[in-house]
Amino acid sequence: MPQKFYITTAIHYVNDDPHIGHMYENIVADVIARHRRRMGDDVYFLTGTDEHGQKIERAAAKEGILPIELADRVVKTHHDIDRRLNISYDDFIRTSEPRHRLGVFELIRRIQERIPDDIYLGEHSGWYCQSEETFIPENQVHDGKDDSDHSVEWTTESNLFFKLSRYTEPLLEHYRRNPDFVFPPTRMNEVRSFVEQGLKDLSISRTSISWGIPFPGFRDHVIYVWMDALTNYISALGFGSGDHARYDRYWPADVHLIGKDIVRFHAVYWPAFLMAAGLPLPKRIVGHGFWLRDNLKISKSLGNVVRPYNILDDFGADSLRYFLVREMTFGNDQNYSDEGFLTRYNADLANDLGNTLSRAIKMSDSYFGGKTPPIPCDDNELIRASREVIPEYLRAMDDFAFQRAMDAVFRFLVAVNGYIVSREPWKHFKEKGPDEALSRIIWNTLESLRLIWVMMAPIMPTVAREALSRLGADPDAIGAEALAWGGLSNNMPVKVADAIFPRADVAAYIGTHPAIAEKKSGEQPVEESKPSPPAQTTAPAEEIAKEQPPHSGPPIETTQAVPPGIAKVSIDQFMEIDLRVAEVRAAERVPKSKKLIKMTVFDGGSERTLVAGIATKYAPEDLVGRKVVIVANLQPAKLMGIESNGMVLAASIDGEPSLLAVDPSVPAGTKVK
Ligand code: ME8
Ligand code: MG
Repeated sequence: MPQKFYITTAIHYVNDDPHIGHMYENIVADVIARHRRRMGDDVYFLTGTDEHGQKIERAAAKEGILPIELADRVVKTHHDIDRRLNISYDDFIRTSEPRHRLGVFELIRRIQERIPDDIYLGEHSGWYCQSEETFIPENQVHDGKDDSDHSVEWTTESNLFFKLSRYTEPLLEHYRRNPDFVFPPTRMNEVRSFVEQGLKDLSISRTSISWGIPFPGFRDHVIYVWMDALTNYISALGFGSGDHARYDRYWPADVHLIGKDIVRFHAVYWPAFLMAAGLPLPKRIVGHGFWLRDNLKISKSLGNVVRPYNILDDFGADSLRYFLVREMTFGNDQNYSDEGFLTRYNADLANDLGNTLSRAIKMSDSYFGGKTPPIPCDDNELIRASREVIPEYLRAMDDFAFQRAMDAVFRFLVAVNGYIVSREPWKHFKEKGPDEALSRIIWNTLESLRLIWVMMAPIMPTVAREALSRLGADPDAIGAEALAWGGLSNNMPVKVADAIFPRADVAAYIGTHPAIAEKKSGEQPVEESKPSPPAQTTAPAEEIAKEQPPHSGPPIETTQAVPPGIAKVSIDQFMEIDLRVAEVRAAERVPKSKKLIKMTVFDGGSERTLVAGIATKYAPEDLVGRKVVIVANLQPAKLMGIESNGMVLAASIDGEPSLLAVDPSVPAGTKVK
């Protein structure tokens, strides 16, 4: 029987419009799930929506509808985006479902049955943050806000409590025995120090809310949303229902994949609930970092969300999947920018992966009559390269080091390009025709590309199928056995077709195109001149082969591939960015924000308003009179409702800004180049 592998994402708040941060999580989980599946594991992949609580209750009341009506409507957005991103989940749980409620009741029943005083009635007062649905410790509240700038209210309630304090030592003992319980290790350390300070009992019911699961035996109380939400990981498996088969097979989870902001709930509260109920603990809590925009976390409350619909429409799901997985070092934070996306798209996908594929197939097509070469090869430098790269790729995939995995693949691709250049097959063909040596050269090239696309398959499942079928390989053969040299058959038809990733015209997007990331679901793109989407769709895989464009084929490019990540801009492109010295004339903190400062700056011609995320480091009064460098021709953007016209340049060390210094004698308006 294959090894089971149970992976979950966080369940996302149903009333939030999904942004690339949420999508990143589902994509990473999907990459892991697809990879484990093709390595032979029996994978169960769960995602879903978190639907109870005050936020949705209020949002529904505002519209004059029931919370469930709101949830039913909005959950469609989540389904739609998962479908468009090709998220191969096995189950999608909604906390409003009856099966979930049964699981929550059963968890509470087991806790009460085992240790009767683990749940008790008491009074609770504290700073409650509606937005995070949690009480915020006193020392994290300043001016009516918590550390994430959300409003808090002083609240007193008669609540049911969970005796979390009892689990301080058992949790520490669990961390000692399982130092990998939380990944990456920095997050494990944070959790451990939090618990080492001693845990207080936790309020697990609310009387101020009615949109939730009623607390058994206490009709005025609903169950605290986190206790409710966390239980999804077992209720989805049938825990508490008549059918425990999936629970028995898949629990405990192998990976709970979540963002770093909710590690504490997963690594402290959740295991404590499970211990109290006498249930096994999840094996691993894996915390990813945040997608940022201009160094600020992308979030609905900051009003800086990045929506991927333009990217999906214009570049296809696999381009976005690749970008998000490749651009972020797993565990760290990463800034999103349209330029970053376009650069990587053109350099890594259109140029490196796309051109090499077209070029190799075109050669096989013209030298060997539309087929893979007749003679294979089992001794050459590419075999040796593959034997280094593949194990490294596999290790990196197991370590959540997707960036390192992709680096390994691209190093192999550089070797393949070097091999083509050094063997000069076009010359060989001219001089000697399609002889045995040429057959080996081209076969080695195609076989290497097959391995590359097998490695890429979990990240770009649709394009990988297409690439494999163009190469004359079996698009379904992406399992462990396909990750070894020698899989490509001889004399199989290859397919010359349009570029798999048509090059993006960067100038058509930057400056003239509304920022790629702005568009909302369902809006039509404004720009006409865009590349045709890559050869991928979300149609069932079997249909893709039929949909391919007619036999045409791009010209063979013989330029050397640009190594990934260091695509160059031309001097003209650089000069399009209007960098200028500006003088700060006025500055004030943006109300309700810990990070943002609103500034009036003089750019040599006029005054303009800018918003910068530098308040953690600079006081407004220290900025006035200072000279800064700004991007003067940036598209206006709204931050917390204020239109910002340009960007102030700052170096960023782990998100901590440091303004670029300008000699004070340089007049405002001076161009920087
Ligand atoms: O926290 N970058 O839901 P949620 C990366 N319902 N990841 C991000 C992100 C960003 N900018 N913004 C959010 C909840 N996320 C609860 C979870 S689980 C039992 C209950 C991540 O919709 C975030 O860290 O606010 C979390 O893992 C997920 O998206 C859902 O966030
Ligand atoms: Mg959140």
